[in-house]
Amino acid sequence: MGIYLTNRLAPPGLHRLGGAFALGVAVLLVGACSQVQPVDPLRSSAAGTSCSAATSATAPAELVPGLTQDVHSDETSHVHLATPVIPGAGLLTERLRAMAASDLSGYSRDLAASGGEGGELNLSWHLTGVSPRAVGVQLDLRRSVDAKTTVSTQVTWWDRVDHRLLGRQDLFTSTGWSEFTSRLTTDPCAGGPTRQPLVAQALSKKPGKSRLAISFAADGSAVVTVSSIAAGSEPFSVVLGAADVGAWLSPTGQAAWAASVRPESLPPVQAGAETPAPKQKTDPGKSATPKAVDCRKARCVALTFDDGPGPYTDDLVRHLQQAKAPATFFMMGEQVKAFPDVAKTVARGGFEIGNHSYSHPDLTRLSKAQLAAQLSKTSNAIHRATGQTPTLMRPPYGARNAAVDKAAARAGLTEVLWDVDTLDWKHRNAKVVRRDALAGTRRGSIVLMHDIHPTTVRAVPSLVTELRKRGYTLVTVSELLGPTRPGSRHFRAN
Ligand code: NI
Repeated sequence: MGIYLTNRLAPPGLHRLGGAFALGVAVLLVGACSQVQPVDPLRSSAAGTSCSAATSATAPAELVPGLTQDVHSDETSHVHLATPVIPGAGLLTERLRAMAASDLSGYSRDLAASGGEGGELNLSWHLTGVSPRAVGVQLDLRRSVDAKTTVSTQVTWWDRVDHRLLGRQDLFTSTGWSEFTSRLTTDPCAGGPTRQPLVAQALSKKPGKSRLAISFAADGSAVVTVSSIAAGSEPFSVVLGAADVGAWLSPTGQAAWAASVRPESLPPVQAGAETPAPKQKTDPGKSATPKAVDCRKARCVALTFDDGPGPYTDDLVRHLQQAKAPATFFMMGEQVKAFPDVAKTVARGGFEIGNHSYSHPDLTRLSKAQLAAQLSKTSNAIHRATGQTPTLMRPPYGARNAAVDKAAARAGLTEVLWDVDTLDWKHRNAKVVRRDALAGTRRGSIVLMHDIHPTTVRAVPSLVTELRKRGYTLVTVSELLGPTRPGSRHFRAN
């Protein structure tokens, strides 16, 4: 078994040298079109076939020292765009920013043309490969205008040695590319009258309205995701086994493959340049919830932080611990997967953790299966990273309806909204965040903030001091509300 694993994790080109072993792997992987993989409702196609089941590998963002993210959010018009900022990778960061900006301008234009109501734009990211040689970033876009939803996926590979962005052909040798494309066009998962034209278009010199994303699964197979940017379409994936793919990859492609299957940390960033100061350690043993509080007697208030964990969450945890101030973090599953150690620090600090969906979609636009998956994938990710299972959830944008209530009840989650909105995503100004939080807060309030904005994190120490001066006691949401029924909704304590 040890040999099996060792070999399986060797660069794919080596499979061909592995004699009897390689044959075994080849037999296992031949025809490994994804029909055999479990269906992931988040990525399943409209047609419901299992060819869409494959998922690319996810590498923790913590492997990239100094990583931050650009977030553009507009809670009122349901826009949430996030892209990673990787120190030393200016070209990559700029490319990702440009992709987000172009998605936003296209969306704004189409929304205005449609009458400007009821849209949603959601762009989420994960690192699909990290090593000192290559970094891969996957962006998943979900866009709704005029009740038509489009989902698409893009993967951008960056060669860290040569400091260049890779085109898809750079991942292959020249013969490898033609074998890959001919395999792709004949694969049953890419077949049918709707899919074949999309594949052909994605492979053409000017792909236009169709996109081809190439990533690798944790088991070494290649995941080729084809998306159309036409309204109402869902991406589909074709999975090609590691044994085949290994023979086609260029040295750069093999580096991308290895970065996905066996992610490695990047070296610490040099002082100066575009990097934030090294983080001070948080104290894992220091709990923020020292003793039970009786909110029937105390003037209780719950501070809540959404959309993390992220690059600034450690700082926030340290501020809160220094002030011995409890708080509740509503985490996104995708962020937990990107920052598992930060999630663990939050949990160890004694803070409460709630579920804020996997990728921040408007839950009211999802199918029953997609909705359930957004909640379960997130609770599972939180449990894996922290050992805690959330009992609270907050729907993104506060968007809920009967279907969301039912899904929350089924998942054992109480819905937590808010009565004080600091609009911190809009102002990005520590003084304004503090002023608005103080102005709205009264006994029993639930205060909404976001730990993905450094301005919010900076506002917290003086906000905590001032709230206490005014006689408030800070508690977690569960302490504030007391026992609740899953599926029930709470805007503040009664
Ligand atoms: Ni949110």
